[in-house]
Amino acid sequence: MHTNNFEAVPLKNLDEWEEDLLRRYPDPDSIATAKTTEEYRNYDNPERDTVKEFYRLNHQYQTYDFVMKKREEFLSFSKREMPVWEAFNFLNELVDDSDPDTDLDQFQHLLQTSEAIRRDGHPDWMVLVGLMHDMGKVLCLFGEPQWAVVGDTFPVGCAYSDKIVYPEFFKLNPDFNNETYSSKYGVYSEGCGLRNVHMSWGHDEYVYQMMKNNLPESGLYMLRYHSFYAWHREGAYEHLLDDHDREMLKWVQLFNPYDLYSKNPEPPDWKKLKPYYEELVAKYLPATLRF
Ligand SMILES: [Fe+2]
Ligand SMILES: [Fe+2]
Repeated sequence: MHTNNFEAVPLKNLDEWEEDLLRRYPDPDSIATAKTTEEYRNYDNPERDTVKEFYRLNHQYQTYDFVMKKREEFLSFSKREMPVWEAFNFLNELVDDSDPDTDLDQFQHLLQTSEAIRRDGHPDWMVLVGLMHDMGKVLCLFGEPQWAVVGDTFPVGCAYSDKIVYPEFFKLNPDFNNETYSSKYGVYSEGCGLRNVHMSWGHDEYVYQMMKNNLPESGLYMLRYHSFYAWHREGAYEHLLDDHDREMLKWVQLFNPYDLYSKNPEPPDWKKLKPYYEELVAKYLPATLRF
């Protein structure tokens, strides 16, 4: 596959995708209906052109084979090893200084998410999920194109739901014309459970795999499916779910508003918070993380 630089970086910065999510889901209680999805599609705004181009590339290139290749490339975690706190500094290299609108760095988004969770009195492992959920964006620093790091995720290897944002772009994906991959169940079977379904490749699956021995199951679902909007907001893919997924959905939905609606221009006071987070990280995570 040929990917030129423009195709690798269609967005001004990674936050553009999240800002677009806020336009699609402006209200924490709006589990979207077909109508709101429709309104979104017809919503024309020049600022959204980069996001549209981003999804065109994402939907075109995220094939079943591409996902398999990336899993093999990244899930051995043999790229590097870093102490947890160094990993946050590494992640913060993702600041785009050509864009004056990037007011807060990646770490601030993580900290605001985790602090909002903590304020509401949720268990400490969920606070840690808030702190770690976007760590997978370091994939960009390993040279991965934006469309293979962020964006809504969706199952590959079976028919695409029209509840996925910009579904028309899936016509560009070679899997769209593959007899198996374009059938309702594809390579899966009815009710097989999401754990048996391969999702489009990105920061969710990567961070889930990184953390999968360190957090309770409900926290792992939050990490793994936080960008699977077609499921947790739109209710699609019921035919692939099992009872365990249906049980876990409420945890994914509990997490989502903290991710989307905790942004605040006021950065949290890290000096004050540091002892709490050092203790929290030490409680659940090993001293170093493997990437
Ligand atoms: Fe994320
Ligand atoms: Fe996030």
